[in-house]
Amino acid sequence: MQTIITIDELRSVLTPLRRQGLRIALVPTMGNLHAGHIRLVEEAVKKADIVVASIFVNPLQFGANEDLDKYPRTLDADKLKLESAGCSFLFTPSDQEIYPEGRNTQTLVEVPGLSELYCGHSRPGHFVGVATVVCKLFNIVQPDIAFFGKKDFQQLRVIRKMVADLCIPIEIVGIPIVRADSGLALSSRNGYLSAEELTAASQMHQVLLACSDKIHQGERSYRELEDSALTLLEKAGFKRDYLRIVRQEDLLAAQADDTKLVILAAAYMGHTRLIDNVEIDL
Ligand code: PAF
Repeated sequence: MQTIITIDELRSVLTPLRRQGLRIALVPTMGNLHAGHIRLVEEAVKKADIVVASIFVNPLQFGANEDLDKYPRTLDADKLKLESAGCSFLFTPSDQEIYPEGRNTQTLVEVPGLSELYCGHSRPGHFVGVATVVCKLFNIVQPDIAFFGKKDFQQLRVIRKMVADLCIPIEIVGIPIVRADSGLALSSRNGYLSAEELTAASQMHQVLLACSDKIHQGERSYRELEDSALTLLEKAGFKRDYLRIVRQEDLLAAQADDTKLVILAAAYMGHTRLIDNVEIDL
């Protein structure tokens, strides 16, 4: 695996490969890689000839009081994991490389509507930051296919809509959530949790599963289900952010006759904001 830090160099290695007709995959990440990220790379290796992973802790998607400074940076360990998963190139640009004129005058990509709901409501500007950097990475790498984890279900929807709206010719693949044995969805932010918080945090998945079971059993009072699931999260030690039963397609509030649903949740365990979701196909 070759590590590349500039856009020019990455383009100069990828252009001849693309001309040879090789299929290029992109796995965008912010590093501190866990088994969920590695699953993305493994799937990319199956579907493409060349796999580019990027590690860039994108300042544009963090709010002023968020964890940008303490976000874990573990480049050496990440390189070993990517290499053994079969990654061909690692792109680790600096902030200066991605935002050479600073962030204030950067052209932004906004997916309206979707970006303001749920995580976008709790983290204003977050999805503009995500869409902008992903659009830049797409233009830098020009992959045929790109892989994203379904833990960030809303992010995946935002990216799919951006790609459709801007006619970006890239296939977007969502990969199922990888969980710890406890059920906790793997996340770089789990590293912020104490041992006690880690145990309590695994309850989030149990609450979502219990809610999903009720829906499978025929319960359709979605707003009441949301309220009782939020109460259960609080009993497990979480501070609530949101829990919504929505349609997979447009993330709008699910109605009784919808058949493809997803329960989206975000809550704080101590100071750490965790997200999770469970898809339901009725
Ligand atoms: O999901 C992430 O790690 C980030 O939001 C992404 C897609 C790499 C953009 O910075």
